[in-house]
Amino acid sequence: MSDVLICEVGPRDGLQNAKHLMPTEAKKRWIGALAAAGLREIEVGSFVPPKLIPAMADTGEIVAHARTLRGVKVVALAPIVKGFERALAAGAHKVTFPVSASRRHSEANVRMTPEQMVAEVGKCAALRSAGDPQIEGAVSTAFGCTLQGEVPEDEVVRLAVALAGFCDAVALADTVGYANPAQVRRLFRRVRSEIGDKLEGAHFHDTRGLGLANALAAWEEGVRAFDASMGGLGGCPFAPGASGNVITEDLVFMFEAMGVRTGIDLQKLFAARAVLIEGLPDEPLYGHTALAGLPKGFRAAA
Ligand code: COA
Ligand code: ZN
Repeated sequence: MSDVLICEVGPRDGLQNAKHLMPTEAKKRWIGALAAAGLREIEVGSFVPPKLIPAMADTGEIVAHARTLRGVKVVALAPIVKGFERALAAGAHKVTFPVSASRRHSEANVRMTPEQMVAEVGKCAALRSAGDPQIEGAVSTAFGCTLQGEVPEDEVVRLAVALAGFCDAVALADTVGYANPAQVRRLFRRVRSEIGDKLEGAHFHDTRGLGLANALAAWEEGVRAFDASMGGLGGCPFAPGASGNVITEDLVFMFEAMGVRTGIDLQKLFAARAVLIEGLPDEPLYGHTALAGLPKGFRAAA
């Protein structure tokens, strides 16, 4: 039983930006440990050209492995039809598409305008038949962009509405950690008033230390699905200055301490962190709760 869904995106958002490569077998062990800790949704990789992001070259094998873990929804990112077809072949349960609201970032990341990217997601949605994966349109750089600066909120709303026309779910992503809680409240409220429950996920980066504050603001606006990355790994290689996601261990601690059930066991989550460190020993990891330990007498939400 859980009140919020935390999707671990470390194997994708984290490893795409890590300085070191994690061997395939180590990725499998880590994902297994995450599942054992109670993570019910894991973004295990992306289907992008291996030349562009070598760390994602083994995503097909990783998806196949993650599918053997009971009760785990296996998510993969894909930017174009070719990647989506690979995700279909591998058997991903859900595919996320990055649709940047910043024109500059969209062109740097996927070499398409936001409009072209929406059309590409539409093509993928039209290719689906019964039993095929869910599709999520993630409006990235929704709160600002290191290349372009300000991103107009009207543009975010426009893209979210377009994506809601053929996606199962829409998420708002703060790709470069520009968001603040007031902005989060305002934008989630505006988008929710346009597309209702199709607005599901919040994806925050902790680049300026506001990751948890933004997650709490989104929760107060009714958001119940959050991306997070173990050890605060993460960042988009095509967005200068991007750094790690909101830290899974700290986000789980915040919710559990508030009495909000995550379905995740913190001790087992720390055990999964040890498995991550073993597989990626030279990569710097972050996390306040993992370093400080749980408060004396701490009890998880019942
Ligand atoms: N940055 C630099 N070079 C890029 C690039 C990018 N974002 N995207 C493509 N290229 C290169 C290709 O490698 C190719 O090089 P080559 O001619 O030397 O082989 C050339 O540009 C032409 O590419 P094209 O055929 O138009 O596209 P593609 O199919 O190779 O790549 C995407 C297009 C959308 C698949 C690719 O840009 C991509 O995967 N982007 C997503 C990156 C990502 O995962 N970002 C983080 C997650 S949001
Ligand atoms: Zn991200």
